[in-house]
Amino acid sequence: MSFKNQIQRRRTFGIISHPDAGKTTLTEKLLLFGGAIQEAGAVKNNKIKKGATSDFMEIERQRGISVATSVLAFIYKDKKINILDTPGHKDFAEDTFRTLTAVDSVIVVIDVAKGVEEQTEKLVEVCRMRKIPMIVFINKMDREGRDAFDLLDEVEQKLGLKVVPLSFPIGMGYDFKGIYNIYEKNINLFRGDNKKKIEDTIAFNDIESPELEKIIGEKAANELRDDLELISGVYPDFDKELYLKAEQQPVFFGSALNNFGVRELLDCFIAIAPTPQPKMAEERLVQANETELSGFVFKIHANMDPKHRDRLAFVKIVSGTFEKNKPYLHVRQGKKMKFSSPNAFFAEKKEIVDISYPGDIVGLHDTGNFKIGDTLTEGEILHYKGIPSFSPEHFRYINNADPLKSKQLNKGIDQLMDEGVAQLFTLELNNRKIIGTVGALQFEVIQYRLEHEYGAKCSYENFPVYKACWIEAKDPKSEEFKEFKRVKQKFLAKDKRKQLVFLADSQFSLQMTQQKYPNVKLHFTSEFN
Ligand code: G4P
Repeated sequence: MSFKNQIQRRRTFGIISHPDAGKTTLTEKLLLFGGAIQEAGAVKNNKIKKGATSDFMEIERQRGISVATSVLAFIYKDKKINILDTPGHKDFAEDTFRTLTAVDSVIVVIDVAKGVEEQTEKLVEVCRMRKIPMIVFINKMDREGRDAFDLLDEVEQKLGLKVVPLSFPIGMGYDFKGIYNIYEKNINLFRGDNKKKIEDTIAFNDIESPELEKIIGEKAANELRDDLELISGVYPDFDKELYLKAEQQPVFFGSALNNFGVRELLDCFIAIAPTPQPKMAEERLVQANETELSGFVFKIHANMDPKHRDRLAFVKIVSGTFEKNKPYLHVRQGKKMKFSSPNAFFAEKKEIVDISYPGDIVGLHDTGNFKIGDTLTEGEILHYKGIPSFSPEHFRYINNADPLKSKQLNKGIDQLMDEGVAQLFTLELNNRKIIGTVGALQFEVIQYRLEHEYGAKCSYENFPVYKACWIEAKDPKSEEFKEFKRVKQKFLAKDKRKQLVFLADSQFSLQMTQQKYPNVKLHFTSEFN
């Protein structure tokens, strides 16, 4: 198959949701369609198996949280589909934000009873900012939930989306009869059997036909006609171009658990979802069909095998092909590297591959060469944009609790920060180290991993910070900036990239600082230029 065709057949996307909305279940059903797994439950079981082989995974297993962002690939109707799984737990939101730099589109899963939840809001906001095309899947239609129109309103208002329903439920919960597929103009009747692979659908070109009454009964038929009339009056027609520009979001209804409405979602997805997209580097825009390889590291997964301190760096291929044993330039280190066993991902397995294409993810074994955001090329100097740091929510001093192991501690902290587990800030005043995390859980993870992987012990001390703000001085030589630095010295720190950060201790002091120094801009993310 030609290089161009290989690109055309790839769809790389992420599924985002609030925990428990059904992301894992949907992923599993998508894999079933691809024939990549044989039975329901395989994906969940796999989570547990991983937990048993790795100490670190044991923490997350015990807590029932999926920390790892894994890659699951399958073939459906000759399309190569790469799903980048994203942790829904809020403490690992940054991991998810980074994964969103590697997807070309997303599917947003919403629980019909709970509606739009907090994590969905945050993640969708990031997707909107980055103009990532989104499809919404409203899940658990077999349960009593909210009125479909109310929910569509909520999605528009809370998530700031412009929705177009491409399927619509017939009844709900106990009365749930099925869905009308607006996109394909057919009816899919619900039987509630989570083992079935493909549903029977009844093609329906004329919604006015009396056949409708025979199939779903008079009451439901009339309601459906009314609903469809309202839909065509209220919502615009689906426009693929607007969807690809992230200005319109199609919505599907279904039940992942019952494998219902999933085929419709998948068929529409492969028809409309974007192929591997061009990506902006600091230097220039890089097209997927350029023949020279370029890619970037969006995730580092540590300690897959606890006996060796190895890590797996996940590289998203942006352009060209990635080939085994071919030398590539590690741009940040300025050196060429070869990889004898690049992993590709298939269903829940990984295997060594000779060649990968744009849109694919390769896993490279790493002993500490890679950081999140690193770029690989065939020689060109390129730096991919869009892997920002966000202000952490929790801050603590990190102290060495075993003076004989300070080297191990520093190495451990360094490597964990490269993986993006948390952020490190070094105070300007006294070089003390502060760890910033999105959730309190990461402090435990860090402590545990430092001890088990690096043989170092740490303790924490509270450090009251409200937000870390990256500083942009309009004129770094101005008196105003000098005064700011002098007065706020105690609150200034450097992040890992040696960028200057202001650690505001309260919302009030942040506001006062902004008022007093209007030419010193304070940003909650490191990506502002
Ligand atoms: P997540 O990855 O988004 O966190 O959610 P997950 O798929 O694990 O689903 C969360 C719970 O919701 C699971 O139940 C799952 O079976 C259930 N669920 C998913 N889709 C549907 C659906 O369409 N209808 C109904 N009724 N339930 C659904 P659990 O009891 O937490 O787990 P389990 O014991 O069933 O595995």
